[in-house]
Amino acid sequence: MRVEETTEQLITIRIDRAKGQMNISPLALNDRVTSKTSSMVNTQAGLRTANPMPPPRIHIKGLRLEYPGAGARPPLTVLGGIDLDVRAGEFVCLIGPSGCGKSSLITLLAGYGKPTAGTLSVDGVKVEGPAPDRVMVFQQPSLFPWYTVRANITFGMKLKANRGRFSDSGARADELIQLVGLNGFGDHLPNELSGGMRQRVEIARALAVDPAILLMDEPFGALDALTRLTLQREMLRIWQATSKTVLFVTHDIVEAVLLADSIVVFSPRPATIRERVKIDLPRPRHRDSAEVGRVARHIADLLEVSL
Ligand SMILES: Nc1ncnc2c1ncn2[C@@H]1O[C@H](COP(=O)(O)OP(=O)(O)OP(=O)(O)O)[C@@H](O)[C@H]1O
Ligand SMILES: [Mg+2]
Repeated sequence: MRVEETTEQLITIRIDRAKGQMNISPLALNDRVTSKTSSMVNTQAGLRTANPMPPPRIHIKGLRLEYPGAGARPPLTVLGGIDLDVRAGEFVCLIGPSGCGKSSLITLLAGYGKPTAGTLSVDGVKVEGPAPDRVMVFQQPSLFPWYTVRANITFGMKLKANRGRFSDSGARADELIQLVGLNGFGDHLPNELSGGMRQRVEIARALAVDPAILLMDEPFGALDALTRLTLQREMLRIWQATSKTVLFVTHDIVEAVLLADSIVVFSPRPATIRERVKIDLPRPRHRDSAEVGRVARHIADLLEVSL
């Protein structure tokens, strides 16, 4: 039956991803995915009537944000009513004109600030502040310059909020150093690394606390074009190995098409969603392929720019 076929495909994908992640660390997210998966497997008889779609990891409904004006300045409406669902493990790129509100949106998702109206929830729980299940990666390096790569990566694992979650932070840091391709650099200080290497440490540090969601705000925006290409490939490999849900802000249309399962295209401020463009092309995608070019041109049309 159709429903069963869909459900079984879904289970297979989830099992594969969970396996990929457990190779790195058997942590909370894995447990959640595994237990959900096995409960679905164990209740195969019930699948006939079960809903094949899992609930969204991120649910955003009617989100509006207005910054109050300072002094004589009028208030500024930045988000003009956003509805967005993101499923677990999805790679979503956010693209839109400068100043439309992309950073404001992911900052709200990270739990910093309150919306003027509407709701945001993660796994069915309303976002009311920062939490280790959502971690931001910024464009500008925010590493501690006096800490080594390894110490930067283990820092978050030792915070009070994560007490008891990571029994062997050193071993986990070593796994992450390997995952982001920084073998041999664990004892280096940030100023002994290149910009691309520092950004890899940023990613490793975000992954260290095993968040369900990575919120990435133009993470490769400050890198040179060649390093950027390398890190795009690396990002896909890391995402496939960890099964994180990724929200990735970029201004680079082709980057978005190469990376994303879907691209959310925003209007100018106050941001509304012009279109959610689903990308079903198999990976790895090639920037010079006709299919990538076609999707990129569609995104450019939505943004009213030329490629
Ligand atoms: N804390 C704040 N207080 C007041 N206004 C703010 C604040 N943060 C951002 N803004 C304003 O909100 C608008 C949206 O900013 P935001 O940084 O979210 O845009 P963006 O889409 O990320 O832009 P860019 O692509 O240039 O990074 C801008 O006009 C900005 O001036
Ligand atoms: Mg921004």
